Amino acid sequence: MITSVIFDLDGVLVFTDKYHYIAWKKIADELGIHFDESINNRLRGVSRMDCLNILLEGYKGKVLSDDEKEALATRKNDYYRELLAGMTPADVSDSVRDTLSELKKRGYLISIGSSSRNAKFILDKVALADAFDAISDGNNIDHSKPNPEVFVKAANFLNQPCNRCLVVEDAKAGISAGKAAGMATVAIGDAAKCHIADHNISEVSELLGILL
Ligand code: G6P
Ligand code: MG
Repeated sequence: MITSVIFDLDGVLVFTDKYHYIAWKKIADELGIHFDESINNRLRGVSRMDCLNILLEGYKGKVLSDDEKEALATRKNDYYRELLAGMTPADVSDSVRDTLSELKKRGYLISIGSSSRNAKFILDKVALADAFDAISDGNNIDHSKPNPEVFVKAANFLNQPCNRCLVVEDAKAGISAGKAAGMATVAIGDAAKCHIADHNISEVSELLGILL
């Protein structure tokens, strides 16, 4: 029996994935690296430094030091935060808000399970910070998805066993993380195209047909 729903944030509840894309594209252009949608899809759910390392697979220049890489990751985050700064509560659809409150009404606990260190900043901007029973994010983990740590921590914060949790994800790495945690999985967006989750949906509200 499922008691808890753990939501990824970027690309599931808010479309900040398009801002990640713009910010990484800017860094890629500055370094003369080819960047496209299929590379971007590999960055979903993956930590900032792991994303940079994926991007640098296409880099033809000299080997970068750890300090240079740190500076690039920080610059990407600065570009990204400039875009996040313009977000408002209107960036969360009525359908997402209604689905979250209906799940609460049905008695489910709900949590965020995001690799992002900007998760709380985003939730504040879109007025969703108080909607969740727990928030597990990039600030409380050592390993990002596909490692299950962020979801296992969310289950701990909710005080629920992993096999009572269901994960909602747009990242292939996130579905793998949910499975590795022993949780049920629902894929949306890019992850739904891979058909590796227990359920595939095209709209968050379809959860209400799965979690009765
Ligand atoms: C989410 C996104 C990833 C991003 C990661 C870290 O998981 O899907 O694309 O790299 O968070 O985000 P941050 O905001 O900490 O750079
Ligand atoms: Mg995501």
